[in-house]
Amino acid sequence: MTTVASTHAAASAEPTRRDFLYIATGAVGAVGIAGAIWPFISQMGPDAATIAAGAPVDFDLSPVAEGQIVKLFWRGNLVFVRHRTTDEIKLAQSTDLSSLRDQQADADRVKVGKEQWLVVYGSCTHLGCVPLGNEGEFRGWMCPCHGSVFDTSGRIRQGPAPTNLPVPPYIFTSDTSIRIG
Ligand code: FES
Repeated sequence: MTTVASTHAAASAEPTRRDFLYIATGAVGAVGIAGAIWPFISQMGPDAATIAAGAPVDFDLSPVAEGQIVKLFWRGNLVFVRHRTTDEIKLAQSTDLSSLRDQQADADRVKVGKEQWLVVYGSCTHLGCVPLGNEGEFRGWMCPCHGSVFDTSGRIRQGPAPTNLPVPPYIFTSDTSIRIG
């Protein structure tokens, strides 16, 4: 089966301590191969009909360095793919669940054996602004609109957002590839 894969990449202007990639992915067919993702390389544009159909998106994780957060789009929604550091994982796993507004274990938000990868929607659960990565007391994200703070598991820790950043449906299709959708 033919696969349509496309990506666009451009430098993120997000003012954080780490480098970030801004990658908007196109749609990928149901039987897909991982799209080659690399910063600053623009490839063929996505097929509009494929995007409109909401097809799954395959994403190659291998270029994403530890500590980086990549942004991509699936069905018009911004998705963060975060390659967590060992410290970030420990922080997420050691959190007392009773201290959480929206109590959810880190283990329920990542895939077993792939704890270094966090995949969440990039839309604040308060009013939908885009949170900034590696900001805020809990080193996850901070929403610039009204100050909601999320931890390294994308869980709400401070501010008006009522719930955690949701995890979209995704699977690992290989050690270094995921399929969202
Ligand atoms: S939209 Fe994020 S805190 Fe209000």
